[in-house]
Amino acid sequence: MNSNFDWESQYEAGLRKWDKYGPDFIPAWVAEHDLGSPPAVYERLRDVVSSGSFGYHDEDTKLGESFAFWANARNSWKINPELVIPTVTVLQGVAACVEAFSSIGDGILYNTPSYPPFLDLPSHAKRRSVEWPLIKSATGWHYDIESLEKILKDDNGIRILLLCNPHNPTGIVLKEYELAQIVNLCHEHDLILLSDEIHSDFIYKESTHIPTLTIDGADSLTITLTSGAKSFALAGLRCAIAIAGNDLLKEKLLEVPKFLLGGANRMGCEATTAAWETGVTWMDELIHTFDDRRSHLKSRLDEEIPKAKMFLPDSTFLAWIDLSEFNPGDNPAKWLREKTGVACGNGTDFGSGGENHVRFTFGTSLNLLDEMIDRIIKGLT
Ligand SMILES: Cc1ncc(COP(=O)(O)O)c(C=O)c1O
Repeated sequence: MNSNFDWESQYEAGLRKWDKYGPDFIPAWVAEHDLGSPPAVYERLRDVVSSGSFGYHDEDTKLGESFAFWANARNSWKINPELVIPTVTVLQGVAACVEAFSSIGDGILYNTPSYPPFLDLPSHAKRRSVEWPLIKSATGWHYDIESLEKILKDDNGIRILLLCNPHNPTGIVLKEYELAQIVNLCHEHDLILLSDEIHSDFIYKESTHIPTLTIDGADSLTITLTSGAKSFALAGLRCAIAIAGNDLLKEKLLEVPKFLLGGANRMGCEATTAAWETGVTWMDELIHTFDDRRSHLKSRLDEEIPKAKMFLPDSTFLAWIDLSEFNPGDNPAKWLREKTGVACGNGTDFGSGGENHVRFTFGTSLNLLDEMIDRIIKGLT
């Protein structure tokens, strides 16, 4: 793992993360870590480049077996590789599911604050957005199952529940009993459950990732969407998967026109399968590193700038920082960027619950993390 990378040279690398605001700013805005990919990924990609095999390909057919190996190794989750459907990205898989499993005017339900593209997706597909807000207490953010029951009782036009577990931006992780209640409610109200588990490889020691498809009764109504993009920093290679709970769901999803399902990129398939097949120990080390980073960030904020508040996330490399005590206005990220030179994700882009917040990516080297924290402290105190 490349934990001491030269961050100043990244501005030359042609990555959106570094290019968006340029060298006057340090980027912490995108959900992408800086510590690279398992060694086998580079080897596999070099082999493809040396062979010059860039034509149409069927490498995506290997994703099922490869993910089945990974899911079993990480979560003792046994999947049937035949139920894995390659997609280009997770978001494109979600959009294909919305097309396959709902109709114009149907409600699509998701938690807020929300990964921003979920907020726009329903209206682009001529569906209705329905919000299921997370609640914030003194101990952190929580799912409110009672409010889910009420939302579903009051609106019988909701057809899809789009879960993001672990949750971006708060980093909370659904517990098994909560998932079981959600699955039961989906049965009761005839919903399809889309489970975006793209952040599920990053689970810290006090939590456990429960794949939605391991819950009793989930298989007849769930499609899980995931990829190696977050875990192995492969987002630009465009390769993801949907895992259908059963053959019927798979058939229905495949009724979507083929061009809408796209085709995963050859390099993305090679990189992703190489990582899933060889990356178990590498991933454990990465989680260990990010566990240290999250504690380091939290303790420095608590001690040196206590008006910037965060809960320790249970998962992933994102901190959801509450700046309300600074009154940062309606674009907290811009406010922070101008004061400190650190470019975070803007809380208000995450919908309700995002007011006064920024999302800060701490998946980086200790040096760069300290540099960002130093700049935040200097700019705000
Ligand atoms: C929850 C969640 N889903 C999906 C994505 C995007 O994945 P993809 O680029 O494969 O669509 C992200 C990226 O930040 C994410 O955080």
